Amino acid sequence: MACMKPPQRLQSLIEEGLIDTVVRQLMSGKEAMVYVVRCGDETRCAKIYKEATQRSFRQAVDYTENRKVKNTRQARAMAKGTHFGRQAQEDAWQRAEVDALYRLAAVGVRVPKPHNFCDGVLLMELVADENGDAAPRLNDVVFAPEQARAHHATLLKEVVRMLCAGIVHGDLSEFNILLGADGPVIIDLPQAVDAAGNNHANRLLLRDVANLRNFFGRFAPELLQTEYGHEIWDLYQRGVLHTEVALTGRFEHQHGAVDVSGVLREIDDTRVEQAARLLRLRSGA
Ligand SMILES: Nc1ncnc2c1ncn2[C@@H]1O[C@H](COP(=O)(O)OP(=O)(O)OP(=O)(O)O)[C@@H](O)[C@H]1O
Ligand SMILES: [Mg+2]
Repeated sequence: MACMKPPQRLQSLIEEGLIDTVVRQLMSGKEAMVYVVRCGDETRCAKIYKEATQRSFRQAVDYTENRKVKNTRQARAMAKGTHFGRQAQEDAWQRAEVDALYRLAAVGVRVPKPHNFCDGVLLMELVADENGDAAPRLNDVVFAPEQARAHHATLLKEVVRMLCAGIVHGDLSEFNILLGADGPVIIDLPQAVDAAGNNHANRLLLRDVANLRNFFGRFAPELLQTEYGHEIWDLYQRGVLHTEVALTGRFEHQHGAVDVSGVLREIDDTRVEQAARLLRLRSGA
């Protein structure tokens, strides 16, 4: 297999013997550069995180609220926005993706198997198609109605499994799911939130599930009538969600009652926007 001159950021991993050769660049997204690499006789994927400057929204308070930091010095620095504080925030953000990958892989959610996290580089399984090439995103694929229904059902089970493990993806969509040889694989988790400790978890879960519905609903329109998000959250909140639960896609909304959560949500949204603006101002973006 041909290879390229390795980028500087991968040099230390090569010296450590974690990577043998760099095959090619796969992607340069907003937040990371992704490379195909060889490690022994295995092909893997290396995600290099970019510096934090551009990352306004996904790092805003609704995602990072209640994230655990190692010590109070770190917490104070993060609050003040000092250089050390920004670095600490950056590390916490990157660690969140590795932590989520390990936790989800452990409970059987189909995510890339993590191998290592070193110097801001995440080494993980390369999700591949039948030919061994990097798998396409769902957004790059067209589905027959029955395929759309099957993948939608599979992914809802994955969402339930994640929630049972206490995690909401928070940015789940056709852009962050790859179609591997063995089915859909969920990627891109630095913004994953703790379902129990984050006040926005409900809203993020509903958005994740709505994204799945709207995408697969293009191929199987009857999915557009479903309300799996509300159903799943309701079961979770009542403490009766489990991985084998049989979902219906139907949900009885409480009519007549004042929509307190809707009002609170709007108040919250304003607060989140203000906080995001503040963060942007502070980082000079
Ligand atoms: N484990 C993997 N196997 C195969 N391809 C991958 C893997 N991880 C990432 N990719 C590819 O790299 C792209 C970017 O990865 P990811 O979404 O994690 O980073 P990102 O910087 O958040 O990107 P974006 O801003 O575009 O969402 C993915 O859309 C996918 O095409
Ligand atoms: Mg992505």
